[in-house]
Amino acid sequence: TLYEDRLDLEALVRAIPNYPKPGILFRDITTLIEHPQGLRVTIERMAEAVREHSFTHVAGIEARGFIFGTGVAMALGLGFVPVRKKGKLPGQTIGQNYALEYGVDTIEIHDDVLDASHNVLLVDDLVATGGTAIAAVNLIRRTGATIDKASFVIDLPDIGGAEKLRDNGVDVHAVLT
Ligand code: PRP
Ligand code: ADE
Repeated sequence: TLYEDRLDLEALVRAIPNYPKPGILFRDITTLIEHPQGLRVTIERMAEAVREHSFTHVAGIEARGFIFGTGVAMALGLGFVPVRKKGKLPGQTIGQNYALEYGVDTIEIHDDVLDASHNVLLVDDLVATGGTAIAAVNLIRRTGATIDKASFVIDLPDIGGAEKLRDNGVDVHAVLT
């Protein structure tokens, strides 16, 4: 609808200073997803931007990447691969350590879900340093799968993560900058 075409998604993202640490301006997407059109229009714009590509899976990063990644997977008619924080997946996993804007962590995927026949779209809510997304790309590439596209709700370009992803051969799309 015209209303949805004109919906100001940026206005639905709340900025919270000094969370989770002093000096971090936290971009809170809960206000975006609780808006009935905000959630769907965001996911539709993410899916539209990559619709001409032939992916086999969408991989979404815990936790906020699950919300948008699931929606994008459904919009594109694809299955969803959860990239989880350490210790959460029940089967055999492979893992990758990474540094975050505010800490360190490890992500994992099941080791039997992806192989060289697969082409994966990476989805998350936000790219800041790119540490999380690059760890996910490296993890997925270790399976032999192709991953050269990533879609985010928000890119914080001053922090430089999207540029680092592009340097690593990943084409980046973001709904909001
Ligand atoms: C946030 C965000 C991204 C990541 C971006 O997740 O959802 O996954 O940080 O930061 P980066 O580009 O500097 O790596 P967080 O680790 O806070 O986890 P959460 O989604 O479980 O809250
Ligand atoms: N993840 C990393 N940096 C962030 C920020 N500034 N806001 C929300 N999520 C983030």
